[in-house]
Amino acid sequence: MKSSQPRAAADGAPLQRVLRNQRHNQHQRRQQCEQAAAPLSRRGLLLSGVLLGVGLIVCRLGAMLRALLSPPVHKNTFGGLVDAGTLEGSASPGAAPRAFPQGRFWLLHNEEGLSALHSSCTHLECLFSWDQEQQLFVCPCHGSRFTRSGEVLNGPARRNLDQFPVRLLAEEGRLLRETPEAGAGSLQPLPVADLLRQSPAGQSGEDAGAGPLIRIQVDTARKRAGSLISS
Ligand code: FES
Repeated sequence: MKSSQPRAAADGAPLQRVLRNQRHNQHQRRQQCEQAAAPLSRRGLLLSGVLLGVGLIVCRLGAMLRALLSPPVHKNTFGGLVDAGTLEGSASPGAAPRAFPQGRFWLLHNEEGLSALHSSCTHLECLFSWDQEQQLFVCPCHGSRFTRSGEVLNGPARRNLDQFPVRLLAEEGRLLRETPEAGAGSLQPLPVADLLRQSPAGQSGEDAGAGPLIRIQVDTARKRAGSLISS
């Protein structure tokens, strides 16, 4: 009995050492795993944040690009297409010009057709008015006067009135006719006499008011500068 106890103690010592070593190794491996996992999750978070930021920037840039590429739509206000009633309802040739303040123009119907004159004086941009007695446009600021077709009669304005192109649309919105783009100089009136003759709604008598109407639009985004007058 006495001789077996020291042998058992001698056999147990290496076993304990082996177990201790195993526990130590396991502990070290666990620490290594934890150390490796911690920076990885931080990197993941950082990467997600960067990707999210880049995504937001790309979306924002896309929206800005779309806004830049698509022209602004001004509905019925100055700077866009402005409704000016119907051809059939417009004043007859030679009648007093009609003011359209929301579009900043005067619509004229002469024997030659329709014209739209910018309502700002070409001297210092005061708003002028129509003088029925004189049959002229008169500027209240410094007295410039313009003929019915927008030519300077007397200064200080040195330039004829600016104009806008006129468009005619069928009831469903199809473009029928518009002021042709000419070279330099003022725009020619848009002829309408033939359309008025053909349109039942434009005729007097029993058929008056019947049939589709022709809408008038003025394109206030495309101002044509009036010509300088020779001194
Ligand atoms: S602003 Fe019209 S005459 Fe001066």
